[in-house]
Amino acid sequence: MLSAASVVFGLLSLSSGVHGAQRTVPQSPQFVPLHAASPGQSISLTFGLPPTNIDGLHAALYDVSDPTSPNYGKYLTKAEVEAFVAPKAESVQAVTDWLSKHNIKSKVVSPSGDMLRINVPVSTANALLSANFTEFADKQTDMTLVRTLSFTIPQDVEQHVKFVFPTTQFIPPPNGNEALFKVVQPPKSALTKKATPPSECQTEIFPECLEDFYNIPSARATNPGNNLAVSQYLGEIATEADLNLFFQDFRPDVTPTPNFTIVSVDGGVTSGTGTLEASLDIQYTVGVATGVPTTLFSVGDASAFGFIDMANFLLQKNETPLVLSTSYGFNENGFSFDVDLAESFCDVYAQLGARGTTVLFCSGDNGVYSFSFNSSCSATEFGPTFPSGCPFLTSVGGTQGVNPEVAASFSSGGFSNIFARPSYQESAVQQYFKEIGSTNAGLYNTSGRGFPDISAQSVNFFTWIADELFFVLGTSASTPTWASVIALLNDARLNAGKPALGFINPLLYSQGVPALNDITSGSNPGCGKQGFPALAGWDPVTGLGTPDYTKLLNLVLSL
Ligand SMILES: *[C@@H]1O[C@H](CO)[C@@H](O)[C@H](O)[C@H]1NC(C)=O
Ligand SMILES: *[C@@H]1O[C@H](CO)[C@@H](O)[C@H](O)[C@H]1NC(C)=O
Ligand SMILES: *[C@@H]1O[C@H](CO)[C@@H](O)[C@H](O)[C@H]1NC(C)=O
Ligand SMILES: *[C@@H]1O[C@H](CO)[C@@H](O)[C@H](O)[C@H]1NC(C)=O
Repeated sequence: MLSAASVVFGLLSLSSGVHGAQRTVPQSPQFVPLHAASPGQSISLTFGLPPTNIDGLHAALYDVSDPTSPNYGKYLTKAEVEAFVAPKAESVQAVTDWLSKHNIKSKVVSPSGDMLRINVPVSTANALLSANFTEFADKQTDMTLVRTLSFTIPQDVEQHVKFVFPTTQFIPPPNGNEALFKVVQPPKSALTKKATPPSECQTEIFPECLEDFYNIPSARATNPGNNLAVSQYLGEIATEADLNLFFQDFRPDVTPTPNFTIVSVDGGVTSGTGTLEASLDIQYTVGVATGVPTTLFSVGDASAFGFIDMANFLLQKNETPLVLSTSYGFNENGFSFDVDLAESFCDVYAQLGARGTTVLFCSGDNGVYSFSFNSSCSATEFGPTFPSGCPFLTSVGGTQGVNPEVAASFSSGGFSNIFARPSYQESAVQQYFKEIGSTNAGLYNTSGRGFPDISAQSVNFFTWIADELFFVLGTSASTPTWASVIALLNDARLNAGKPALGFINPLLYSQGVPALNDITSGSNPGCGKQGFPALAGWDPVTGLGTPDYTKLLNLVLSL
């Protein structure tokens, strides 16, 4: 399926006499053209300009994230990050000159100035880009998208434009948690920390189970500089009322009940009835990382650009959050026609990491086959999720059960077709290839970045949603769990006068290995295939394993 896709990107001489670089994509059977977009309809286009020195940013990120570097934890300032990412002056000049020839004014929408946005009628966009913006129906979701199958950038501007969004990107919407859930009765456990977990924890999870499994402290975090952020899309929202019910049932030891803050990005909702993903994320951050100030960022735009806007919103502040947890993702195949966009998307997380933020994403809930179980089962290659393949963030898979803790069969994992394998995981992945031999040969990209990096419990998390108690499952549950672990570790580091943990992969794949519980059984089937087996060491189902807070605390206080 991936290899059938190719982007035509060449120099064309158009009949109008404009010489330019035309980008064309074949029409995907999933998106059906309905009619040309109405000429007067307004369209917002974002232009990505090439960064001045993105390799320099990546090198600086690794330098501050490598525990053996003298610069470990010496995070970059806002200005230092922006200096790497800012476009060259001649790029800004070329693009703004081109736009002003069409009487179009642009607005800078990223703190470094590498992204410019225009709001114009479709007729203007068509003229500017020699495009035919068309309304397409997404057969899978019944949603409509305005896109064009081809567009042209004048030859003298082409080298100054990395991507234009939305144009030829046919990216299905992100998936949040759609996992099975049902109403249940609250557990009857005593809710006091014991040497052995309560028997309920065999089949259902509440904060005490996570504390017992992973040695997570129940004591309140104390550092006033600590914080944790969760981002929400697709109109998801959490409420204080549901959080209060959750604390009544599962954290009666904590009084008064902590609250959380809501911030809107791109017009995201700030109130409403509690929904699945947001309630889960808030209850397992506020309810586990007790006392860590937590903010829910509600993002109104669920296209790829909403994710980039979210990161830019944080990057524009003098202080970025110490942890950012996101339980949404895309099918990476949707980005195969615009690798430049995928790179810019990934690089916003490199920027956050360089500023000292730990960026966590769920790995996905459909085993080796990304999100589109049914429609794409004829595919001969496994489908990785996005942005878990981005090497500059930490991807979290799922486990279940206790003694032994095993891989959850839905835990997405595999290898990116866009991002090459970073050196921090080279030996861990090579070891895995040795162990699996020819298993799944030809179904995955042996040079791609492997994911997830780590995992945690992910099945039957008690969650209050709109006054009702549900069981929720998915890597959406393991991701906020890890966010809480990192936030509590950060608290200990801050109290010891040390910086927060930032981008944790280089640490996890080296000194972190003995501080994790290696998961060695289970697999992630999908699309009629058995998927990848979880084995000793790293594997593309559970990563390096689940947290042991006590060991991690000793490790991070020693750095
Ligand atoms: C633009 O696309 C629409 C929908 O496919 C089509 O009906 C129309 O003819 C196209 N217009 C041009 C100028 O190619
Ligand atoms: C708790 O947080 C919510 C969302 O930020 C806010 O609407 C509410 O007023 C807060 N409650 C209290 C008691 O501060
Ligand atoms: C996808 O497959 C499941 C399980 O076989 C089935 O219940 C569901 O209806 C299918 N969905 C679509 C859209 O075909
Ligand atoms: C495999 O991944 C690499 C990046 O590591 C990429 O350049 C290459 O195009 C991918 N191959 C396929 C068939 O997608």
